[in-house]
Amino acid sequence: MFPAKPTSRSILFTATIFFLLIFTIYVTANEDPTVETDNEGVDSDLQELIAIDEQGGGGGEEQQQGDQQKEAEVLSKAQRIVLELNSDNARRVIDQNEFVLILGYAPWCARSAELMPQFAEAANKLKDLGSPVLMAKLDAERYPKVASTLGIKGFPTLLLFVNGTSQVYTGGFSGEDIVIWARKKTGLPVIRISSSVEAEDFQKKYHLFVLGLFDKFEGHDYEEFIKAATTDNEIQFVEVSSSSVAKILFPNINATDHFIGIVKSEPEKYIAYGGIFEKDTILQFLEYNKFPLVTILTELNSARVYSSPFKLQVIVFADSDDFKNLIQPLQEVARKFISKIMFVYIDIADENQAKPFLTLLGIEDSENTVVSAFDSRMSSKYLLESNPTPSNMEEFCSRLLHGTLSPYFKSQPIPDNVSIILLTVN
Ligand SMILES: *[C@@H]1O[C@H](CO)[C@@H](O)[C@H](O)[C@H]1NC(C)=O
Ligand SMILES: *[C@@H]1O[C@H](CO)[C@@H](O)[C@H](O)[C@H]1NC(C)=O
Ligand SMILES: *[C@@H]1O[C@H](CO)[C@@H](O)[C@H](O)[C@H]1NC(C)=O
Repeated sequence: MFPAKPTSRSILFTATIFFLLIFTIYVTANEDPTVETDNEGVDSDLQELIAIDEQGGGGGEEQQQGDQQKEAEVLSKAQRIVLELNSDNARRVIDQNEFVLILGYAPWCARSAELMPQFAEAANKLKDLGSPVLMAKLDAERYPKVASTLGIKGFPTLLLFVNGTSQVYTGGFSGEDIVIWARKKTGLPVIRISSSVEAEDFQKKYHLFVLGLFDKFEGHDYEEFIKAATTDNEIQFVEVSSSSVAKILFPNINATDHFIGIVKSEPEKYIAYGGIFEKDTILQFLEYNKFPLVTILTELNSARVYSSPFKLQVIVFADSDDFKNLIQPLQEVARKFISKIMFVYIDIADENQAKPFLTLLGIEDSENTVVSAFDSRMSSKYLLESNPTPSNMEEFCSRLLHGTLSPYFKSQPIPDNVSIILLTVN
């Protein structure tokens, strides 16, 4: 059960705290890679990684030895593809290569350690794909002078140097995300598919992609598609000129040319684009349609989730066992509110992700499933105070959409500096 509803305070306060929270989380998640992390002590994962990194050797545990050893081997091979920069070679490497993607790290930084294997995996894949990007890493603690001339201010930092000039990394943080981003920004924003075999092969590898069907790869519409592909930071785009090949990737295409659609790995697999062929409208369509029916919030995707343009969000907190029973009915409900409400699941046991919201709702000690909603148009928050049955959830969402829910208030002292922060946010 939830604690009794506290008496209401001003809606402004709620709004303020809500924006403050969202903003804080967004900024934290977004800027973490360039912000120095405290030295929280070198944990064992990190030690293992550094060992693999330095010796190129395996570091498998006794259990699951097979798997771990294999992983470690792949990792160590990949890490040898990543060039280690130092004060002698850094400038030369950057000046003599058209594209250099650099990971600035510190050996004690846990987030660097998490990113390292993803970076190495990306290096491996990019090499296999024949990409011109040179992948390099710099121990910014050992070579602080080099780090500072390159513009590496925190750990980990990813920078892409194009003909010696750096640009900030704006992609995701899995190996696949890094590959997609690096290819987009180095002249290969789109993969061209010309046969059924290639299409089937592609389909096995990618769980999320944008398909463009164009009878000719030229003209205004096609150029806008390419601009969208280059500007987007995370989704692989493919282009096809044959409608029979396109039908493998997107079965019920009716158009024979000038078609764009997004393909996802869930029941709502295919969504056709119906707007005009302009970069910004294509990108907006993707913003509203790239998320699954229910997004499971993790550290990796939180920045993307918080920056989504959805004004209405339903956030469900439950432990992972309860969620197994809840996911299907929740997806059923979500299907009825596609591109209107964003549905997010947060593991209630995940302190970092769940706690700030639960505290905001005044139910930080709740162990039961919580269904909450946020409306950033009205800066309001809501709580489903009946059992989360499919029909209760659907009614809750429907009233959220129509603005007829009663906001949920919680009292809390207002810090003096909140309004100042708000001014700088907006
Ligand atoms: C980098 O410089 C080379 C040589 O001047 C030039 O041919 C190439 O187009 C440049 N690359 C980019 C992405 O600007
Ligand atoms: C193609 O046409 C069929 C029948 O009219 C329709 O059901 C389907 O949604 C259309 N597909 C797309 C991608 O528009
Ligand atoms: C706001 O004030 C609190 C309490 O004095 C302080 O801990 C916090 O750092 C301040 N935030 C900003 C952004 O100044």
